[in-house]
Amino acid sequence: MPFKLFIIIFALSMAFTAKAIGVNWGTTASHPLPPSKVVKLLKSNNINKVKLFDTNPLVLQALSGSSIGVTLGIPNGMLRSLNSSRNAAENWVHDNVTRYMSKGGNGVRIEYVAVGDEPFLQTYGEQFHPFVIGAATNIQVALVRANLGSQVRVVVPCSFDTFQSVSNLPSKAHFRSDLNKTMIQLLTFLNKHSAPFFVTISPFITTRQNRNISLDFALFKETAQPHNDSHRTYKNSFDLSYDTVVTALSAVGFPNMEVVVAQIGWPTDGAANATSHLAETFMKGLMNHLHGKFGTPLRTRHLIEAYIFSLLDEDQRSIASGNFERHWGVFTFDGQAKYHVDLGQGSKNLQNAQNVDYLSSKWCVVNNNKDMSNATATALEACSTADCTALSPGGSCFNISWPGNISYSFNSYYQQHDQRAESCDFRGLGLITTVDPSVDHCRFPIELRTSHSNYLRAYCFQGMILLVASLLSHLNLSFT
Ligand SMILES: *[C@@H]1O[C@H](CO)[C@@H](O)[C@H](O)[C@H]1NC(C)=O
Ligand SMILES: *[C@@H]1O[C@H](CO)[C@@H](O)[C@H](O)[C@H]1NC(C)=O
Ligand SMILES: *[C@@H]1O[C@H](CO)[C@@H](O)[C@H](O)[C@H]1NC(C)=O
Ligand SMILES: *[C@@H]1O[C@H](CO)[C@@H](O)[C@H](O)[C@H]1NC(C)=O
Ligand SMILES: *[C@@H]1O[C@H](CO)[C@@H](O)[C@H](O)[C@H]1NC(C)=O
Ligand SMILES: *[C@@H]1O[C@H](CO)[C@@H](O)[C@H](O)[C@H]1NC(C)=O
Ligand SMILES: *[C@@H]1O[C@H](CO)[C@@H](O)[C@H](O)[C@H]1NC(C)=O
Ligand SMILES: *[C@@H]1O[C@H](CO)[C@@H](O)[C@H](O)[C@H]1NC(C)=O
Ligand SMILES: *[C@@H]1O[C@H](CO)[C@@H](O)[C@H](O)[C@H]1NC(C)=O
Ligand SMILES: *[C@@H]1O[C@H](CO)[C@@H](O)[C@H](O)[C@H]1NC(C)=O
Repeated sequence: MPFKLFIIIFALSMAFTAKAIGVNWGTTASHPLPPSKVVKLLKSNNINKVKLFDTNPLVLQALSGSSIGVTLGIPNGMLRSLNSSRNAAENWVHDNVTRYMSKGGNGVRIEYVAVGDEPFLQTYGEQFHPFVIGAATNIQVALVRANLGSQVRVVVPCSFDTFQSVSNLPSKAHFRSDLNKTMIQLLTFLNKHSAPFFVTISPFITTRQNRNISLDFALFKETAQPHNDSHRTYKNSFDLSYDTVVTALSAVGFPNMEVVVAQIGWPTDGAANATSHLAETFMKGLMNHLHGKFGTPLRTRHLIEAYIFSLLDEDQRSIASGNFERHWGVFTFDGQAKYHVDLGQGSKNLQNAQNVDYLSSKWCVVNNNKDMSNATATALEACSTADCTALSPGGSCFNISWPGNISYSFNSYYQQHDQRAESCDFRGLGLITTVDPSVDHCRFPIELRTSHSNYLRAYCFQGMILLVASLLSHLNLSFT
């Protein structure tokens, strides 16, 4: 092949593969990074696909005019009404899709609407099952009526527990039996509208739940013991999971349905093996695999579209399935890269968020000179609202020992409450300090200044009082 042609093909394939990788952008944080800064972060790292979990107007405004492809999310709680009312679906599309797209070149490039967020997750029981297909159908009809039927695809993100297999063998995979009927309806719907099947794949959770899946196998290590499935050899957990999905789809008559990996990542805190070092190893392995277009044993040389989970840490995510849930970010909550990986930006180094606005350099710690007999109970109470997940076994602050762990929980509570003085009281046990109490890997974070921060509120309130006082003094009113 002539060298120039090779370069062109190489460049084209790089551009093409880079397009297939996106990120999930969740906002379940007490102090989310401002949307405009997040969009700059996406652009500076050449990330051009993003999956959202709702339709926050500030987020969509920030994405307007960018060329970033967007997946909008419909929360599970809306499925019932969207199933029962076409009108509700039309209003949703009008408010949350049409409005943002019909702005010429300045709109939002909406590619998918995700109906529900893993509505078939086993822990939810069957509460959402009866509404999903109806809601998806009504949204589809509404999109067609808004002339967006050819631009926007309707999808339903599925959790990995939608599938079952015998001894992890892809060839023995099928849908969870309580979902057989619903899945055939879903696949028929997706197929009719040329929409892909969205599914979460999580080697991290698979290796935690299944002792047969080694950590090395999950981490794409060349030295990992392969798994054999009759004549096919699996070298990593990702391929095993992906082909589990492919087999289950084929088994019910959809062998060619496109599979999009809706969420995939590795957390960095709150559990054993959740570290930045292992996350980096996993993400590098994943990116090599995706950029290399190797495909999987059942779909060789296949370009796989995947959304990394997640862009940023979120300190208010539910920890029902584990304390690691708040630490999936490639970036910390404030947009700083945790490790090196090429997500398509063409270098190992990720760009950090710029001009991040933090609260003051102040922390809340426990006052050792006080009676500490009730300190542990007080800290546990703080942890019921604050984020203490770093203190859990295997977490980055598991080591700091008592009473350092008390200080950690006090500080988390104080930061989440915008450093308000009264949020560092703790029945007289709290002490505000300007000396960073962080030790080794255990960082005591300072939260972001956000528009709802107490600082601004206090500032405004003080300003109002001054203004009123000066007006009064000018008017020289007498209250007698
Ligand atoms: C879903 O909507 C359809 C059409 O309105 C309705 O007939 C059906 O009862 C709804 N399903 C549930 C479980 O409410
Ligand atoms: C648009 O989406 C938002 C956020 O998901 C939701 O609160 C709102 O009700 C939606 N609009 C309509 C008309 O359904
Ligand atoms: C683990 O592997 C053994 C031997 O290959 C197999 O018999 C067993 O079913 C596997 N267990 C799970 C949970 O997959
Ligand atoms: C669902 O499908 C699986 C595999 O095809 C089968 O074993 C199971 O019996 C089915 N369950 C129902 C309820 O149809
Ligand atoms: C898997 O298959 C390969 C070759 O296909 C073979 O060398 C290897 O021993 C097999 N591994 C197991 C555990 O059966
Ligand atoms: C993963 O976690 C297990 C359980 O705590 C631990 O024994 C093992 O050393 C960890 N592996 C790595 C590479 O951190
Ligand atoms: C000890 O702390 C708990 C939990 O914060 C609180 O309910 C209780 O009143 C405290 N007891 C004393 C003596 O301060
Ligand atoms: C605990 O502390 C020791 C000594 O400071 C350190 O080597 C180790 O990595 C720490 N473990 C964790 C989980 O932070
Ligand atoms: C702090 O450590 C002590 C002693 O190990 C433990 O009893 C307490 O529950 C810990 N508190 C928190 C908030 O983790
Ligand atoms: C305010 O009014 C009082 C009498 O009501 C007068 O003595 C005083 O000088 C006035 N002050 C100003 C600032 O006008």
